[in-house]
Amino acid sequence: MDANTIDVEQLGEDVRLLDGMRTTRAIRRLRPDPVPSALIRKVCEAGTFAPSGGNRQPWFFIAVTEPQRRMWIAERYRKLFDAYIQPAWQAAKDPSYPAAKRRNMQAAIHLAEHLHEVPVLLFVAGWTRRGQPQTQALFPAIQNILLACRAVGLGASLTTLHTAFGKETDAWLGLPENCPTCAMLPIGWPQGSYRRPQRRSVDSCFFFEHFDPAVVEAGLAD
Ligand SMILES: Cc1cc2nc3c(=O)[nH]c(=O)nc-3n(C[C@H](O)[C@H](O)[C@H](O)COP(=O)(O)O)c2cc1C
Repeated sequence: MDANTIDVEQLGEDVRLLDGMRTTRAIRRLRPDPVPSALIRKVCEAGTFAPSGGNRQPWFFIAVTEPQRRMWIAERYRKLFDAYIQPAWQAAKDPSYPAAKRRNMQAAIHLAEHLHEVPVLLFVAGWTRRGQPQTQALFPAIQNILLACRAVGLGASLTTLHTAFGKETDAWLGLPENCPTCAMLPIGWPQGSYRRPQRRSVDSCFFFEHFDPAVVEAGLAD
């Protein structure tokens, strides 16, 4: 996408809502090309239409775009990710390891290895309430942003690994102690394309009136 010819206002306005939902998956292979600031603002604006308790709207969105700053995050993320992915990496040596899980793991590894090249690392933070982080109040906004990225053709995914060095990151971002980050969304133009993600059927997890353990026993809901 040529940044100079993008009509930010119009981009994404024609994507049908349910179709967008059905085809929003984690896109972790991203091109290093820059993303216009106005487009980042647009997807964050979609985040601001999310519901929140008491309509308190506790969220803040901080886009990290400078190469050295992205590197600061990437180095720390990678170190943690290497330890985090080890069990899956070992398990995947077994040829019977499910192909879909293997692809997912490979994409996550790719993201970790290339995080410093991702043009936008978008942090989502929010005020604490009664001393507690309000993570649950931020996730509707995060999902809105992911859907907006889908609509405008940006690739994105949701990550939370950085919270293991969250305090250090929050201070580095200039956030006060009562406004921690809960997620980082690496965003850029996708190398691949949006398509339906692999999900179990709604019939394996949807009931009227009562939960039915027979569905679980039949292996439909594992
Ligand atoms: C709460 C939460 C935390 C996540 N944290 C990470 C993360 O730290 N790193 C990562 O690569 N993916 C992370 N993910 C992305 C999931 O792995 C991804 O959504 C899942 O594998 C489905 O991918 P798909 O939409 O491509 O099928 C996280 C997802 C959620 C919902």
